[in-house]
Amino acid sequence: MITINDNYLKLQASYLFSDIARRVNTFKEQHPALASRVIRLGIGDVTLPLPPACIDAMHEAVDEMAKGSSFRGYGPEQGYDFLREAIATHDFEARGAAISPNEIFISDGSKCDTANIQELFAQDARIAIPDPVYPVYIDTNVMAGRTGVAHGGRYAHVTYLDCTRANGYVPALPEHPVDLIYLCFPNNPTGATITRTQLEAWVEYARRHRALILYDAAYVAFLRDSKLPQSIYEIDGARRVAIEFRSFSKTAGFTGTRCAYIVVPTECMGYDRAGNAYPLHSLWNRRHTTKFNGVSYPVQRAAAAVYSEAGQRQVRELSDYYLRNAALIRETVSALGYPCVGGENSPYIWVETGTDSWAFFDLMLQKAQVVITPGAGFGACGQGYIRISAFNDADKVREAMTRLQAALPKR
Ligand code: MLT
Repeated sequence: MITINDNYLKLQASYLFSDIARRVNTFKEQHPALASRVIRLGIGDVTLPLPPACIDAMHEAVDEMAKGSSFRGYGPEQGYDFLREAIATHDFEARGAAISPNEIFISDGSKCDTANIQELFAQDARIAIPDPVYPVYIDTNVMAGRTGVAHGGRYAHVTYLDCTRANGYVPALPEHPVDLIYLCFPNNPTGATITRTQLEAWVEYARRHRALILYDAAYVAFLRDSKLPQSIYEIDGARRVAIEFRSFSKTAGFTGTRCAYIVVPTECMGYDRAGNAYPLHSLWNRRHTTKFNGVSYPVQRAAAAVYSEAGQRQVRELSDYYLRNAALIRETVSALGYPCVGGENSPYIWVETGTDSWAFFDLMLQKAQVVITPGAGFGACGQGYIRISAFNDADKVREAMTRLQAALPKR
């Protein structure tokens, strides 16, 4: 008899965005006349095409693959040097963060990276996860058997880091030691940002407890406040206690193209039960080379083009475009009397509705045919909130906001 991994039975619901897609499809089937009116401001999926610099680089790479003299088979699992070097120079050195190309591992997405990294850690590692949170962090720990069972929507062995209006959506340090800490800034789902001083406190905590921070910076392209840290490695001592995740998905419109990377500094340590230190870089390199065969050459060439002069200008235009949508969303919901955060250094706006968030989701779908994400899907602290994504075409966002004004009562 083949027995299953019964940790899967502990999962609370289906994956949030699959659940939303199913509900939207049901609505469309039940209301065929309204189906074409549906505007999606739910999942953060980009709508603008890839930047021309990336497209040109991808075309050239495809042409190389068509000739015997320039054809390439398996590439290095960790990624091609041309991309790792460009990342180290532009994303880290330029910010005064010392990261070398060999500490960068190219991958096919931060969703997979934030899930796969757990393989390096003990089953009984004590995890701290923000609430609300990108559901992948929690669900993948459930699958790995690290969370225990859920009672009242919260898993027994997880330290939840509440992010509320009172703490500006930046969690306080845990009151007891934890081993593995997930942080995401600019935050998904709240759109909140973290200051240098706040991040220093986390790094200091991790050093004191020999803990590890998994720092998800997938939305860094939307940061406009130059005082805020872009990378955790801008903080002294972070190289020993932090792994950072970055993605080209939202930065350069690669959600369908797939390219991301993970930074594992060589000084970053994990420990065995006797307290002996082991470089996580070696462990991750072993895992990555065993289980992953690299991102395709044309896609890596396209990603490297992001760092060309034209590429930098074009990706800035992309994030500016979505930030203009975000500003309109913020302005509209604020004028309707709903407190909100995010949308200034982030493509997400976290809106306090004060009502059941799935009921609010249904209301928006039924009355305005606008899809948002219910805050409760991101955790217990998300109840009474919704997340609105700025990723859509500007005319659709304008139309969605007009419908919102008509459908929602002014508070
Ligand atoms: C989101 O909407 O939270 C993201 O698009 C999900 C993801 O990046 O996987």
